[in-house]
Amino acid sequence: MENFDRPKKNIVREFVASFFGKRIKQTHQLLTLETSDWLFHKEMPNQKLKVYQLPTKDFEKMEQSKPKNIKLEKGDINKKVLESKVKYDGAYIDYCNNYQTNRTPIINMLKNKKFRSGSPIGFTFSTRLGRQVKNRIPTRTRVKSELRPYLTHMSDLPYKDISHGPMVTMLFEVK
Ligand SMILES: C[S@@+](CC[C@H](N)C(=O)[O-])C[C@H]1O[C@@H](n2cnc3c(N)ncnc32)[C@H](O)[C@@H]1O
Repeated sequence: MENFDRPKKNIVREFVASFFGKRIKQTHQLLTLETSDWLFHKEMPNQKLKVYQLPTKDFEKMEQSKPKNIKLEKGDINKKVLESKVKYDGAYIDYCNNYQTNRTPIINMLKNKKFRSGSPIGFTFSTRLGRQVKNRIPTRTRVKSELRPYLTHMSDLPYKDISHGPMVTMLFEVK
């Protein structure tokens, strides 16, 4: 399992936790991605979290070490959210890959109103442009313009990650 306890990642996580801490009730479920180190939970220990994890070895470890206020389910977050009837009060989806890979499910989640109006929502993407990226438009510009019908943009935190290269964390509010 990759170690996400890294100085820059820790600063981003603190920034994200402070954004969500001001905008979501602790009793509401915040949808997110985690690892068996539960670093995001440690930053917001009293927040109820709903976590999806792919069927990795880490999933088994997570099941064994899961804190009480976390609901953990196996599966791809992009599919599970679309299939579920639940409406979330917030989401921080810390993707390991780029926007292009996730754009269709993200847009479908928003079109299908999987998040309550006014709820905070954040994403982390790699900003490296793979060959498949349309028109080579920089990630932040493209995300803001494509998600504008559904989200109000709040702030961005670009950073360089040792193993993933250039990344950006983008924070919004659902319209
Ligand atoms: C970047 S890490 C999360 C790090 C955590 N937010 C933190 O601050 O330490 C992403 C985690 O989600 C899992 N993951 C990535 N894509 C996923 C997907 N589409 N559905 C479910 N889990 C996913 C990865 O296996 C990994 O454990």
